[in-house]
Amino acid sequence: MQYGFFDDARREYVITTPRTPLPWINYLGSESFFALCSNTAGGYAFYRDARLRRLTRYRYNNAPLDQEGFHLYIRDGGCVWNPGWQPVQTELDAYSCRHGLGYTVIRGEKNGLAVTQELFVPQGDDCLLMRVSLRNDSGAVKTTDLFPYLEFCLWDAMDDGSNFQRNYSIGEVEIDGAAIYHKTEYRERRDHYAVFWSNRKPLAFDTAREAFLGLYGSPARPEAVFGAGCTGSVAHGWQPIAAQQHRLTLAPGAEERLIFGLGYLENAREEKWEAPGVINKQKARAMLARYADNAAFDAALAALGQHWETLLGVYRLRSGEEKLDRMVNIWNQYQCMVTFNMSRSASYFESGMGRGMGFRDSCQDLLGFVHMIPERARERILDIAATQFPDGSAYHQYQPLTKKGNLAVGSGFNDDPLWLIAGTDAYLRETGDWSILDEIVDFDNDPTLAQPLLEHLRRSFGFTRTHLGPHGLPLIGRADWNDCLNLNCFSEHPGESFQITGPSEGPVAESVFIAGMFVKYGRAWADICRHLGLADEAAEAERAVAAMEKAVLAAGWDGAWFRRAYDAFGRVVGGRECEEGQIFIEPQGMCVMAGIGKESGEAALALQSVEDRLETKYGIVLLQPAYTRYRLELGEISSYPPGYKENAGIFCHNNPWIVCAETELGHGERAFALYRRTAPAYLEDISEIHRTEPYVYSQMIAGKDAPSFGEAKNSWLTGTAAWTFLSISQAILGIKPTLDGLQVDPCVPSFLRRFTVTRRYRGAEYEITVENPDGAEHGVSEIRLDGRALSGNILPVLEKGARAQVQVRMG
Ligand code: GLC
Ligand code: GLC
Repeated sequence: MQYGFFDDARREYVITTPRTPLPWINYLGSESFFALCSNTAGGYAFYRDARLRRLTRYRYNNAPLDQEGFHLYIRDGGCVWNPGWQPVQTELDAYSCRHGLGYTVIRGEKNGLAVTQELFVPQGDDCLLMRVSLRNDSGAVKTTDLFPYLEFCLWDAMDDGSNFQRNYSIGEVEIDGAAIYHKTEYRERRDHYAVFWSNRKPLAFDTAREAFLGLYGSPARPEAVFGAGCTGSVAHGWQPIAAQQHRLTLAPGAEERLIFGLGYLENAREEKWEAPGVINKQKARAMLARYADNAAFDAALAALGQHWETLLGVYRLRSGEEKLDRMVNIWNQYQCMVTFNMSRSASYFESGMGRGMGFRDSCQDLLGFVHMIPERARERILDIAATQFPDGSAYHQYQPLTKKGNLAVGSGFNDDPLWLIAGTDAYLRETGDWSILDEIVDFDNDPTLAQPLLEHLRRSFGFTRTHLGPHGLPLIGRADWNDCLNLNCFSEHPGESFQITGPSEGPVAESVFIAGMFVKYGRAWADICRHLGLADEAAEAERAVAAMEKAVLAAGWDGAWFRRAYDAFGRVVGGRECEEGQIFIEPQGMCVMAGIGKESGEAALALQSVEDRLETKYGIVLLQPAYTRYRLELGEISSYPPGYKENAGIFCHNNPWIVCAETELGHGERAFALYRRTAPAYLEDISEIHRTEPYVYSQMIAGKDAPSFGEAKNSWLTGTAAWTFLSISQAILGIKPTLDGLQVDPCVPSFLRRFTVTRRYRGAEYEITVENPDGAEHGVSEIRLDGRALSGNILPVLEKGARAQVQVRMG
């Protein structure tokens, strides 16, 4: 069942009922000011850091769902309603929500009044804008009251939700004409404030929640809206809010538009006050003036559109397959940008209070956005590398506001170092900017330990190499990519963190997955060395890689698939002899992507085993059989009920590894069949089962062992975005950046007889048309660049600004 439809021409998903199976959201903002906005105008806003600079409140596990946000109440005659239906839930005569690239438009109609709410964050500014348009389609004059409402957060979202003995006494606001200032803690150490404003003077306002909602009122029935209107309350402590009441009289056919905003501003210490206790509002006034009228609003919206046009212009596909084109050209890349901005911090599943930026997550996210914003990828790589330790290991997480490694979690996730090679390698292949390797970067955020980035990569490689276990496979540490396979943890007490309990590294537990990574990214490291003229180092790295490959085929091969690990007692994890958890997806994906067993047959066997044992109609589950009881020696993985999360859920992140692995063996048909199985646009008609947004990937879909098989959770912030984009754009469609140029190596399903990719690469534009008359799965017989036949399949790097036509024939 569908709850809306794709409007590809406008790059929007249009939701046609407010009763979606979960709130379906969008992300507004792409620099420093962000807001999440659901299809019923729920959500929250923050500046840079969703925990430390939260502007508005959100209650995640509330009932009813999704009550806080950017709501508007309309009081028209005796009827109170919201254009987005929530929170009053008055039945609407018409409703739609258009989620577009960085903006959302919600429209509701009731009794001949149409109200539209347009929300976005302008480029280069720290505010959320909301334009409200009202049109009187009834035949009679209407006098209507309009109430915008939002609830401020007292900045630190964690403290705001727990430290009530203090917080109920500190809330402060100032009112200045059509603007409401939130200035809690501004009197002491905070140098920032928030402002909510409108471009028209309201009839009345409220800033105390009790006054607006009523002491025992709720967002679904605010006393001010249902009763006598706003009261002019000034919040002292308790819950500061911003609410206004505007009265509009509309002749039949008349339309009115108001602009509202929520801004964040900082003042230098010595310029904080304009009078004792009165905020210096100069910057806020300038912000208000920037968006005073519709022309300014429209210009800012157009600039946002241009921004996305540029980003999405880097990789464009025309395949004739509608769902594929919309995933590749719009939504998958859009989601990659959102993961770049948010990492795993703030969604409707991630509270914004927990994890900062993950080392491995951020390195992998890079793979999905490096082509769109290489300069910011460069900066990200350097930030991440600065949280590496001198021995090559790394802080597992860091805080975006401070860019410092997170001490509470520390290090010991032994896959982390190799992801730095993966991310940097992707950057080099995209940009050819070798100067990044000369950048001097701190170790452990300590400038006295700084070394060139190249040295960081060397230590990444060296760390794995020097932390091997009894079988010559890498030691797993606290966990590898699978955060829940905690082989050195042995946690017996409720509430202990599986990730940081126990020793950070045992001398026995080993990971076949990291071994696969070492082969794949160790080769990348060797290529980088060779490119730099470090031939000896390259050769030495290749020897280490070859030894690892041997170790995998000896101790990591189970007969029909790759094993997962060895536990702290040296027992196999992910092998036939195991009672449960006999086969895992991760090493099949990573080892085959690394080319292990490609010639000798193990790779093909491993992928066959994935098909036979792990594949379901909704995707590939992480392991089988699911663990049915808690196992001390395995940790968190066995803490989840069967079929959820890492315990045999369909963990979407590593499905594209299998897609890439299939193309490694030339299986285009299979690769695409797997790609489409988890691609959201292809799941739109089963939205009642899938439940999350049909335009973005989720972290997890419940596996076949779960009662809710097929139900997705944790949408938006997942490494799935980057890896699926890689799997479709590079592995299947075959347009791959290499160190030497753009390689064309498609591996496609036979129905795809012709497609065109327009790719901007290192300043030039290539229009690549692939013809596949005989429906080959793999292999290119001819490439012509501007009519001239090319030997090999790597397109040369062209001059900046050049445009080239490339004709490719498969078969
Ligand atoms: C989460 C984490 C990621 C990890 C994955 C598997 O998505 O963000 O780092 O690899 O779970 O446990
Ligand atoms: C939990 C989740 C996992 C995530 C981790 C982050 O273990 O199951 O997906 O990566 O938390 O710490």
